[in-house]
Amino acid sequence: MTIQQLKVDLGDQRSYPIFIGSGLLNKAECLTPYIRGRQVCIVTNETVAPLYLQKLENLLSEDYQVSTLILSDGEKYKNADTMMQIYDHLLEKKHNRTTTLIALGGGVVGDTTGFAAATYQRGVNFIQVPTTLLSQVDSSVGGKTGINHPQGKNMIGAFHQPQAVIIDTDVLKTLPARELSAGLAEVIKYGLINDAEFYEWLEKNITILLSVDPVIMTEAIARSCQNKADVVNQDEKESGIRAILNLGHTFGHAIEAAQGYGQWLHGEAVAAGMLAAVDLSVRMGWVNKIEVDRLSVLLSNANLPVKLPPNMSTDQFLSLMIMDKKVTDGKLRLVLLESIGKAVVTEEASKENVVATIRACR
Ligand code: NAD
Ligand code: GLY
Repeated sequence: MTIQQLKVDLGDQRSYPIFIGSGLLNKAECLTPYIRGRQVCIVTNETVAPLYLQKLENLLSEDYQVSTLILSDGEKYKNADTMMQIYDHLLEKKHNRTTTLIALGGGVVGDTTGFAAATYQRGVNFIQVPTTLLSQVDSSVGGKTGINHPQGKNMIGAFHQPQAVIIDTDVLKTLPARELSAGLAEVIKYGLINDAEFYEWLEKNITILLSVDPVIMTEAIARSCQNKADVVNQDEKESGIRAILNLGHTFGHAIEAAQGYGQWLHGEAVAAGMLAAVDLSVRMGWVNKIEVDRLSVLLSNANLPVKLPPNMSTDQFLSLMIMDKKVTDGKLRLVLLESIGKAVVTEEASKENVVATIRACR
C-alpha cells in the first residue's frame, strides 16, 4: 500500500510532513529523518503502551538513547501534575536540548507531550504518532498543545509545531467503536466547512469507513489533514479563519460542560452541535432546509448523535455558549455555513434564531 505524504507549510523553519498509511509503525524511514539528536523520549499511556510501544521502541532502540514514560489514561490526567511528571522524567534521564519527544497516543497524550516539548528547556522537538482517529485528523496537526486548568479545558498551552506527524491507520483496529465514530465527526466537519466534494464522498463511503478499510481510511484521513493544513497554513495562531475548525463546537462545548466531561465524547457533542449549526444556517437563509436531513442521515450512519440532549434547558445552553472562547465583548460568534463546503464566523445570528434552533434540535 502506498504512503500518502502531505505538508503543513509554515515556511522554511517550521514546515513539516504528515505521513499516512497502513503499517507505518514498522517503517523507520518515516520517523528517523525527523529526529535531530541521539536522545528520544516516547510518551504514551497505560492503554496504548501494551499495544504499540514495543513497535516504536524496535524502530529506535539500536540507534538512539530511548527512554519511555507511560502516563495514566484519561482527560482528567491532562493537567499540571502530569506535566511535572514529564519534566521530572526528562531531567532524571538527563534529556538535553537536542532531545526529541514522541507522543504515542490520542489527543490527550499528544496535547500534553506537545506542551512539555514547547516548554522543556524553553522548547525541544517533538513528533506526533497519533493513535485515535480524532488525533489523526485533528489534534496532531496544527501545533495546538496544552493542558486543562481546574477552571477550564485547554486553558494553559502554547502553539508548538511538531517535526512530523506519522499516522498508521492499522492502530485504528484496536480503537473502541465509539471513539472511532467520535473521530468521524471531525472528518465530516472538514467536508462541511471546506470541501463539498469530500462531503459527498463521505456520504458514499461512511459504512466502509466504520470497518477501518485501510485504503478508504487513508483517503479520509489524508483529505481531512489536507483540509486542516490548508486552514492552518493561512492562520496558524487563529487570528481569523482557523476558527472555522470549530464548527459545532460552541453547541458541543455547552453539551460537554453540562453533561460532565466524558459522558458525551467530544466528537459526539460536536456531531449534535454541527447539526444545530446547520439548522441555524437554514434559519439565516443561507443553506437549504434539505441539508439538515442530509447531515442527519450521514451522522446516523456514522453512529453519531443527531439531537441535542433533551435534559438541557434553553437557558442552560445559552449561558454555557456565552463562555465560548470565540465570544468577544459579550457577543456570541458562531461558525455557520454559507453553503456545504463554505463556513463563516459570524456574529449575525439573532438570539431568537439561536433559541429556535436549540428547541428544534432537541
Ligand atoms: P484520548 O486521547 O483520551 O483517547 C481516547 C481513548 O482511546 C483513551 O482511552 C486512549 O487511551 C484510547 N486509545 C488511544 N489510541 C488507541 C488505540 N489505537 N487503540 C485502543 N485505544 C486507544 O482522546 P482523543 O479523542 O484522541 O483526544 C481528545 C483530546 O484531544 C482532548 O483533550 C481535546 O482537548 C484534544 N484536542 C486537541 C486538539 C488540538 O488541536 N490540539 C484538537 C482536538 C482535540
Ligand atoms: N481543533 C481546532 C484547531 O486546531 O484549531
